[in-house]
Amino acid sequence: MSKSIPPVPAGASAGAILEAGVLAAGGRVELACSFSVEDAVIIDIIHKSGLAVGVFALDTGRLNEETYQVADAIRERYGIPIHWYFPRHEAVEKLEREKGQYSFRESLENRHECCAIRKVEPLGRALAGLSGWVTGLRREQGVTRKDLAPIETDEANGRILKINPLLEWSEQQVLDYAGQHNVPTSRLYGQGYRSIGCAPCTRAVGPGEHARAGRWWWENPEHKECGLHRR
Ligand code: ADX
Ligand code: SF4
Repeated sequence: MSKSIPPVPAGASAGAILEAGVLAAGGRVELACSFSVEDAVIIDIIHKSGLAVGVFALDTGRLNEETYQVADAIRERYGIPIHWYFPRHEAVEKLEREKGQYSFRESLENRHECCAIRKVEPLGRALAGLSGWVTGLRREQGVTRKDLAPIETDEANGRILKINPLLEWSEQQVLDYAGQHNVPTSRLYGQGYRSIGCAPCTRAVGPGEHARAGRWWWENPEHKECGLHRR
């Protein structure tokens, strides 16, 4: 049975959105954490609010070294366990045997295949048994994210609740919060990266470029989703 979505007043704080979402979910809720600055800020807010929200992360096998360093810093700083999920090894072995290590550069279909194996299938396992999940999605991140709601029913994942507490935050607000609260963040942000995913599918961006221009930079912006946030 789907859960009812609580009303979220305009201008509600991230903490208020989290609290309303957790209450409405009425069961286990976890943050999907890529160790982006957004996700690290959410962990800090959760920690300070005392809300019962766990943390899971999808290790695609292709993450940057810097991402693991942030993961470890967060684990130590907040004293929380990170629930890691890996892809099915048979699926990765078959993909690499048949198509090599960089098939995702060859076509959109191949890119979606790699994301499906390394991210979407493990996400399904991470969400099993949860009543809701929290993400670091922000509206201004791109055309594919402009119609999101702070708390929504996740139609693609068993109609559990999806809670997006930073939906209306700007990139600058996120960076300011992280700086003011001394939140651990990836060293890559100091090297021109503004959105960080798998290492071979992420690059730094130049001045004037869109923040997500460095993700799957060879693709059209309309396609820049990996399937984690299907609707
Ligand atoms: S992606 O879909 O394009 O990769 P993006 O990097 O913008 O997503 O991150 C948006 C949100 O998706 C993150 O804030 C996080 O909640 C979730 N997410 C992305 N990648 C992962 C990951 N590897 N593990 C867990 N959650 C993730
Ligand atoms: Fe594969 Fe790139 Fe998707 Fe990571 S982001 S799962 S390496 S296609």
